[in-house]
Amino acid sequence: MSYEINDTEFKRLRSLLYDIAGITLTDAKKMLLTGRLSKRLVALGLVNYTQYFKYVTDVAHAEELQFMVDLLTTNETYFFREPQHFEFLKQVIPPAKQGQMFRVWSAAASVGAEAYTIAMVLADKLGEGGAWEILGTDISNSVLEQARRGQYRLAEADKIPPAYLKKYCLKGKNEQEGTLLIDKKLRQHVSFEQLNLNVERMKKVGDFDVIFLRNVLIYFDIPTKQRVVANLIPCLKNGGYLIVGHSESLNGITNALSPVKPTVYRRL
Ligand SMILES: C[S@@+](CC[C@H](N)C(=O)[O-])C[C@H]1O[C@@H](n2cnc3c(N)ncnc32)[C@H](O)[C@@H]1O
Repeated sequence: MSYEINDTEFKRLRSLLYDIAGITLTDAKKMLLTGRLSKRLVALGLVNYTQYFKYVTDVAHAEELQFMVDLLTTNETYFFREPQHFEFLKQVIPPAKQGQMFRVWSAAASVGAEAYTIAMVLADKLGEGGAWEILGTDISNSVLEQARRGQYRLAEADKIPPAYLKKYCLKGKNEQEGTLLIDKKLRQHVSFEQLNLNVERMKKVGDFDVIFLRNVLIYFDIPTKQRVVANLIPCLKNGGYLIVGHSESLNGITNALSPVKPTVYRRL
């Protein structure tokens, strides 16, 4: 069941999502919004979007805002997406040095496929017991639950190179049939935290050698892109790399990074 939404209702919810997450929904996304929220209205016993707006903005239901954001974010991702970036990563990993931790941040991690892809590459180069760690963050809580479990449908593994699949993934048996689990020896290097990149003066989450910020800037307008990238730069080590998605660019967004090649930038 999908409730009709009028222009005023759509504009209010759209602006709420923009204020929180920085995500811009065009008029063409009306169907997407109603498609994703209508079940929630039914579950709450509400009969229109005016009622839902009141509900979600009522301080008595503060947790509903997170629920709404979880439903309205687009979380598409897969292992080894845009594989050139992982080839690039292999090239910039320095040889392991005593006492030096190599740190990578997947800053819009979704269900974790990007973070675990990075983990496979680092484990291969630096060793399963090597000095490396990965942080995955996302605004959506529901995707992070899956990311922490590290369990996926087998069908999602088709882009994982067979050698990595064999080395780093466990095939589910019996009731886990049809799934794969990322091996604990990789999972122990990876942690996930909820983090909204669209806030003024975001807390510093660490110092990273490489930050992946892929396929999220496409949802943002220019001021939001500028704010988000400015939030990330203090977390990038001097000489560290920031990588964006193949349809994204930091042209006109920051002067603090210099382009290395399309979609790859370096902090000087
Ligand atoms: C399309 S997925 C990209 C996943 C992965 N980086 C990739 O390239 O495959 C975009 C992710 O960005 C997250 N996102 C959207 N707005 C965000 C914000 N303001 N702060 C943090 N994450 C956000 C969404 O929840 C979603 O999981």
